[in-house]
Amino acid sequence: MEQEPRIVAPEEQEKDSGFDAALRPKSLSDFIGQPSVKENLSIFLQAAKGRNEPCDHVLLYGPPGLGKTTLAHVVANEMGANIRITSGPALERVGDLAAILTNLEEGDVLFIDEIHRMNRSIEEVLYPAMEDFALDIVIGKGPTARTLRLDLKRFTLIGATTRLSLLSAPLRDRFGVHFHLDFYGENEMLEILKRSSRLLELSAEEQPLSLIAKRSRRTPRIGNRLLKRVRDFAQVKAEGRMAEDIVTQALTSLEIDSLGLDEADRRTLLAIINKFNGGPVGLGTLAASTAEEVETLEDVIEPFLLQQGLLIRTPRGRVASDLAYNHLGFTPPARAGKLDFDT
Ligand SMILES: Nc1ncnc2c1ncn2[C@@H]1O[C@H](COP(=O)(O)OP(=O)(O)O)[C@@H](O)[C@H]1O
Ligand SMILES: [Mg+2]
Repeated sequence: MEQEPRIVAPEEQEKDSGFDAALRPKSLSDFIGQPSVKENLSIFLQAAKGRNEPCDHVLLYGPPGLGKTTLAHVVANEMGANIRITSGPALERVGDLAAILTNLEEGDVLFIDEIHRMNRSIEEVLYPAMEDFALDIVIGKGPTARTLRLDLKRFTLIGATTRLSLLSAPLRDRFGVHFHLDFYGENEMLEILKRSSRLLELSAEEQPLSLIAKRSRRTPRIGNRLLKRVRDFAQVKAEGRMAEDIVTQALTSLEIDSLGLDEADRRTLLAIINKFNGGPVGLGTLAASTAEEVETLEDVIEPFLLQQGLLIRTPRGRVASDLAYNHLGFTPPARAGKLDFDT
């Protein structure tokens, strides 16, 4: 049987698509939070516009659900440009990318999502395209092969990645600017939810929205998704009234606790506490004992727990912090000395 996807998973899910697009800020002034990214991007865009040139290539990186795709659209919109969208895994052959590049118009934005998953041979086609707006085509094979250089229109490449470390150095260096998106503050999350409820014409006061904000893992995509589930709940159980008690009931029924942890998060922490005396425990052992894939643990579950200080990474494995003990209703153990942090 297909498992229902985790409601707090930060990656885009099928059900999000229409909703995501409807709630996506269109301009920089509509984009909430990330003040330093906004400020720098705004200067960068104004400068390009002032010179009447397409802007330099932009690399966006950060965890899923924080606004990379949104910002790519914002850049295109602010530049009055068309946007073409593709992704690393979608580009299977060199020809796929060549076809896209040769069809770009002057000033167009080409957005490549998950750019770290692009094939190396395809990546090499991008180098001259980014640097010289040229496409090198090899014609023929063996000793008679020759290279033909095609000129491309001046375009802006925007690459997005969740794993900067997986991007090759030559590719990384060809982006004129890098912007790092970080988790949102609680107030920013509240502002985002207020904006979303306005757009969805929901009647929700600040207080109930702040309950959702607290449990959104500081991630707009999750906040919007919870908002939508709470809306459905309110509609069925309370004639659409999104009051505090209804929101609390909805979140409880989704099994999301006060820190935004779901069942999988709690299971992971409980395993460390109950089966491994709080750790340290290696990732592989932990995965086996919770029947979770190592990759899921590392890419999906662990980052938020680390970020919240519930989990600590040490050279000898993962450790449940005192905060995790307290949150789950246990007394933290007496520990000799400080934990050895692995930074
Ligand atoms: N700064 C923001 N202000 C308001 N909404 C945002 C913001 N960033 C993201 N969102 C919302 O979160 C959703 C997910 O953002 P998206 O750009 O798709 O994330 P990413 O591409 O980084 O995974 C968007 O549909 C948008 O509604
Ligand atoms: Mg995206």
